[in-house]
Amino acid sequence: MNNKTSIQGSWASRWIFILAATGSAVGLGNIWKFPYITGENGGGAFVLVYLACILLVGIPIMMAEVFIGRRARKNPINALTDLADESAGSKSWSIIGLMGMLSGVLIFSFYSVVGGWVLHYIKIMLTGEMLGVTSEQAGAAFGGLLEDPTTLLLWHTLFSIMTVVVVAAGVNKGIETVTRIMMPALFVLLLILLGYAMTTGSFGDGWNFMFHFDFSALTWNSALIALGHSFFTLSLGMGTIMAYGSYMTKKASIGKTVLTIGALDTLVALVAGLAIFPIIFANNMDPGAGPGLMFISLPVAFGQMPFGQLFGTLFFVLVGVAAWTSAISLLEPTVAFLVEKFKLKRLTATIGLGIVVWGLGIACLGSFNFLSDVTFFGKNTFDFLDYITANIMLPLGGILISLFAGWVVKDKFAQDELQLSDGIFKLWNISMKFTAPIAVAIVLYFLINPLS
Ligand code: PHE
Repeated sequence: MNNKTSIQGSWASRWIFILAATGSAVGLGNIWKFPYITGENGGGAFVLVYLACILLVGIPIMMAEVFIGRRARKNPINALTDLADESAGSKSWSIIGLMGMLSGVLIFSFYSVVGGWVLHYIKIMLTGEMLGVTSEQAGAAFGGLLEDPTTLLLWHTLFSIMTVVVVAAGVNKGIETVTRIMMPALFVLLLILLGYAMTTGSFGDGWNFMFHFDFSALTWNSALIALGHSFFTLSLGMGTIMAYGSYMTKKASIGKTVLTIGALDTLVALVAGLAIFPIIFANNMDPGAGPGLMFISLPVAFGQMPFGQLFGTLFFVLVGVAAWTSAISLLEPTVAFLVEKFKLKRLTATIGLGIVVWGLGIACLGSFNFLSDVTFFGKNTFDFLDYITANIMLPLGGILISLFAGWVVKDKFAQDELQLSDGIFKLWNISMKFTAPIAVAIVLYFLINPLS
């Protein structure tokens, strides 16, 4: 057993780790993306594939990330190097950490733009501007926001600053403090909104939409989206969970802890769907409305319902909190790397990285206005970054992490950290060596070579 600790600090308890990792996992992925991709992919069958991906691929890979981080107690690049070294493997595996940092930077750049939309919506819900608006008016309001780079820049900048301030304050004073206050608040808000959705009279329709398994609607592309989303929503494949794992105490059981995080993340996504779809159905709106579901359909719905101003505001506060704690975790692995590798002060590292991601964010927010002509493979910058990170880079990072944990790291080191019973360890090991990488490879193959 080693009793090393990270120079960045350690979580005060196992529960703080669970809440911090859940804070990372629960984000725009759960409340904005999950409901709209479920809507676009026909509901139930998509939810089932997503759940299978979480259980069979996501959870085992999360265990691998946590144990790699905790064993080395360093940032992902150095953690991978140390473990490769210890197991007499090639140090080139640390490339996974490099690719992960790149994914984090690219995700942040569109994430904070959406985070900015959310802050804007907190304001307009609070001031009652959206009360009683029609679908056309709400669509025009959202369209107007996207066409207004100055307003977008303002909110994107505020969101970036909020994130940088917390990361700069450090693991304990920054991330842990925000976690302690914001995560309980998030759960309470979500339950309040679920209760509210139950009063709409359309709860059953929302439930059926999510849990009626119609496989005819399922395509390879939706399977890919479900798999990609399981990485995105659990913050896997880019080193975030590895970095958070490096601040975890040795006493805590990784298996139980990771199961709890996966279950909480899934629960929040499902409850968010059950809070949103009934409101959509009660107001005869289209569940397949795409990314605008949250920013167009929901405000219209809230605007017509009793206490809509209050609950609408609470809803966007909830989304804002979720986005904030995730954005923090997108920066942490790179900041830890810059501090440990180049001996930078945390403040300097965070501000430097903050400026880079803020600048990239401007290219993303420009996708809707002054840079709308810039496209990659037919997608604007915003959609392109969302697509390559969630659907390609994170799954690829995930495959590599599982191959590394399964084939390179010596079983005895893995078991030393994981402390699983023999049978469960075998299952986990098979998942790392075969199941997870093959599942991801098949889906990626069909992405590149579509069936029809
Ligand atoms: N899991 C976050 C979400 O669902 C996004 C995220 C991805 C955060 C990768 C960190 C790392 O919104």
